[in-house]
Amino acid sequence: MTTQADDAIDATVPAPVRELTARVHAAVLAGQGHLEPSTLTIPNANYTDPGIAARELETSFAQPLVVGPSSMVKEPGDYVALTLVDVPVIVVRGDDGRARVLVNACRHRGAQVAEGEGCARRFTCPYHAWSYDNGGALAGMPGREGFSDQDQATLGLVELPSGERAGFLWAMRDPNGVLDLDAHLGPLEAELESWGFHYDLGAVMELELGSNWKCALEAFQETYHFPYVHRDSIVGQGTISNISTLDRFGRHHRLGVPLASIGTDPEPPPGEHVSCIYYFYPCTVLATSPIGGELLQFWPGPTPGSSRVRHSVLARERLDEPGVREFYDDYAPLIQAVVRDEDGVVLESSGIGLATGTSDAILGRNEAGCQAAHRQILADIGQEI
Ligand code: FES
Ligand SMILES: [Fe+2]
Repeated sequence: MTTQADDAIDATVPAPVRELTARVHAAVLAGQGHLEPSTLTIPNANYTDPGIAARELETSFAQPLVVGPSSMVKEPGDYVALTLVDVPVIVVRGDDGRARVLVNACRHRGAQVAEGEGCARRFTCPYHAWSYDNGGALAGMPGREGFSDQDQATLGLVELPSGERAGFLWAMRDPNGVLDLDAHLGPLEAELESWGFHYDLGAVMELELGSNWKCALEAFQETYHFPYVHRDSIVGQGTISNISTLDRFGRHHRLGVPLASIGTDPEPPPGEHVSCIYYFYPCTVLATSPIGGELLQFWPGPTPGSSRVRHSVLARERLDEPGVREFYDDYAPLIQAVVRDEDGVVLESSGIGLATGTSDAILGRNEAGCQAAHRQILADIGQEI
């Protein structure tokens, strides 16, 4: 029997979790999640060959990429300097309210005009003090007569095509790229909108790894490793490993992962007991939890055997509510330690082994998220295996 209290609890559960709970619970009772028809072997070269890495940059990374949650720049003037894959950018909300992704390279001779994060009306280059407003326009240049034959109006910071959708800011790496978020997101957009991911941004951590970006991505697309790598931490203890559902949204997908609290009673308890682990093609994972989520961006490094992970804690509650920031400030170091000290260690180790060139990688039938992501990447680079 459903009581009014149960209804009140369930109304707080996001629609995708409500939809998934019975299926995920049934998989737990059966002891079996989604299985692909066969294993998938990824050639060693896909982790080590500079030619394949370059091809991925030209194809997969020519797609719209998640820059971060919209809340990374909430108010006019808010900015964050970061390196989007290999492009230094300033993410900034202009005085007009529009979020922009500007190449962080002075139009005089390329110096970076901003670092870190903050709130600013102007960015002033440290080299010769050209200054730009928070929409990117060149607003001041000392000794202007030295540049009298240049048109100042054309010397704004270069802007990457970008747009906000479903709580996230998306951009193209190439300033001449065409951003088509309708085509890119397809059915994923309605799914994300059903969550209302207007979550506040908590702590951000960046990790440099000695392994290919796809190795790092794989570690966040399967829960097979949880009992071994995360046995003693909140991730291993809070979930049921190696069982998940898979649903595709065009080139993107969603894993449904049971939280330990789903239990093994004949009926799942009321409340939120499934984590949705989204894959946004090509290089972003969003893992939800009842308190918010973790956004993980996996970016190729300067060599095929190096990568960078940007990990962001998303808060479902507003951080300016009493006591909320303190809660997330306590939580963030715990989850960051899992990624850095547990996943990070085995990923370094994988990188060393794959760099020997002696063996390929095998993705199990149970590692369906890894398989699905790899198949999309392989399709983009035109490789049949
Ligand atoms: S490089 Fe920026 S002002 Fe000269
Ligand atoms: Fe992990």
